[in-house]
Amino acid sequence: MTIRKIAQLGHPILRQRARQISREELASEEVQRFIDDLIETMHDANGAGLAAIQVYEPIAICAMEVKNNPRYPYKPNIPLTVLVNPVIEILGDECFDNYEGCLSVPNLRGMVSRAIHIRVRAWDRQGVEIDTEVRGITAGTYQHEVDHLLGKVFVDRVTDSTTLCTWTEFQRYHEAAFAESVRSIVARVGS
Ligand code: NI
Repeated sequence: MTIRKIAQLGHPILRQRARQISREELASEEVQRFIDDLIETMHDANGAGLAAIQVYEPIAICAMEVKNNPRYPYKPNIPLTVLVNPVIEILGDECFDNYEGCLSVPNLRGMVSRAIHIRVRAWDRQGVEIDTEVRGITAGTYQHEVDHLLGKVFVDRVTDSTTLCTWTEFQRYHEAAFAESVRSIVARVGS
């Protein structure tokens, strides 16, 4: 496995739309090896998720995993999940405020409004159909990763620029309040 370089904000690849892949392509040794690299790179960088486009492969694959993550200590855990050709459908009109960061946007966080309840259709890395509903903070992580595959970065969705902050100032001034709101969302919707 190889740890890949992560594209940083301003690199044009982050603005491309990822192309869908076929089941045959997904089954190839090359793509399966790539998925191993994507997961390895996400783990190495302590990311909650990583989209293929962030490692310079504009194909519609992303990975997510949260397991007591030091970058996001308040985030509920997400088992290792690989989505291929994912499509998100927003269910209902309830949104929540999510403080987001991104491995492609160094040392910056900002508040983004995300749907609290979504339906996700995709394949897993074996090409098996996934059709599931996701709620809460975890739904925010899904939307962030699928946005990458559409050429979007979280900063595009920050509507109040006064919420932008560095890592240190997030911890100093915003993390306690946000962690409290995460706890209340998790208590209400389960993730
Ligand atoms: Ni990101």
